[in-house]
This record gives sequence, structure tokens and C-alpha cells, in this order.
Amino acid sequence: MFIDTHCHLDDQKLINTDEVVKEYQLSGVDLVINMGCNISSSEKGKELADKYQSIYYAVGFHPSDANHFNDEALDKLKLLVTNKKCVAIGEIGLDYYWKPYDEVKQKQCFVEQIELAKESKLPICIHSRDATADMLSVLKQNKDKLSYGGVMHCFSGSVETAKQLLDLGIYISFAGPVTFKNANGLLDVAKFVPQDRCLTETDSPYLAPHPLRGTVNAPKNLPIITAFLANLKGLELTDFANQVMKNAKTLFYKLN
Ligand code: NI
Repeated sequence: MFIDTHCHLDDQKLINTDEVVKEYQLSGVDLVINMGCNISSSEKGKELADKYQSIYYAVGFHPSDANHFNDEALDKLKLLVTNKKCVAIGEIGLDYYWKPYDEVKQKQCFVEQIELAKESKLPICIHSRDATADMLSVLKQNKDKLSYGGVMHCFSGSVETAKQLLDLGIYISFAGPVTFKNANGLLDVAKFVPQDRCLTETDSPYLAPHPLRGTVNAPKNLPIITAFLANLKGLELTDFANQVMKNAKTLFYKLN
């Protein structure tokens, strides 16, 4: 019934994959998409997808790893995208939170991977932290390369930013923070985004939802986020979960 569109099952905290998979299946999570942050996590995603039917994967370089992105790395990504279970390029984007950062290198890494997505006929999973204006301008400048769409992962911006992303054809994904006591403006965004443009994710092992905040997050907690959003939007949980699954299968068409 549920899908976790963004998690990091290669993380040391979630190393017992058999257990992680068993637990999320028991909580009703049918599909998960593992993100790539560099070559090793992208390759690990493929290994996990080879082993577990319910795991799909994305490949890419996280902005914090942009300094390791080069032609050799791009060639390796190109080999990984052809697999039938590679559903997206991600997570890619801009992160000006962790200092020092190289803005020029991050933008180059972001744009080259948007081009890879177009070539590979895949959607992108976008990461943006403290970089909203630049992230939006890169997307707008490369609008012609976004024919396979994308998703803004763990959205934490304003209604205005969400609106601009929706106009660019980007889906909005909500994670644990929407359930936090200090979510404030994010609640308005969650109410604003049409249900046919919403996605859900855990970003495991990070960002465990309320009341588990501060613990190691895992895909088994995904239903907490979906239920919170359904309630906020005044929808039946089953209806909303089915809609989110449909949205995910529309964007990540290789899930079908
Ligand atoms: Ni992530």
C-alpha cells in the first residue's frame, strides 16, 4: 500500500537489510527507492535491488559529494542507469548548509546529472538545502532537459517555492519534518500541494517522524508520515496512500 520514495539503506545504521525489509513489509510498505549519493552508494543500491524484489534504486552524486564527481564517475553512473530497477537520477542538487562548499562545482555536478537524466530518460530526485534561489534558477535554466520530471525530496520550503516547483512539473515529497511539532509553515505547504502531486519518503536513517524523532529512522515508519498527511488533507488514509502510489508509479515509470 505504501511507498518510501527516498531512503539510504546502504547506511551503516540500517546494515541488517533482511530485518529492515521484513519490518517495512510488515508495516505495509511495498516498495522503497534507495538513493545514490556517490559511486559506492549507487552501486550498493543496485546490489540491494538485485537481492530484494521490493527495492529499487536511484544513482547520482549528492551535492556534498560534488568534489568527487568527474568524467570517470559519470561513466560509472551511465553503466548503472541501464538496469531495469534504476528508476531515477538522485539525489542531486545544491547544499549550501555544510561548509565549506564549492558553489561552482555543485552547480556543474547538478547540471551534468540533469543532462544524464534526460539522456537516460529518467526523472530526478532533488536535494536542496539553504539554496532555494539557486536551485530554482538551475531548474528553470534547464527546463528543456526535465522532460521526465522530478521530485523535490524532503520539501521544507514555502508555499511560493512549492508553487514554482509544481509549475516546473516537479512533485513534492514530504518526510518526517512535516510531523514535527515545529512544522508550522510546512503544514500550509502540505495542505496546498494537490494530492496528485504529493510523494512520501522517510529519508532513512535520518529524520524519524514524531513521536520517534531522534531515533534511527527506517522505511517501516513511512506509514506514520502518510497517515499524518492524509489527516491534514482530510482524506482517507487508504485513498491517499493509493494516490501516492499512483503518483510514484507515474513519475518513476520503471516501477511498473
Ligand atoms: Ni537523502
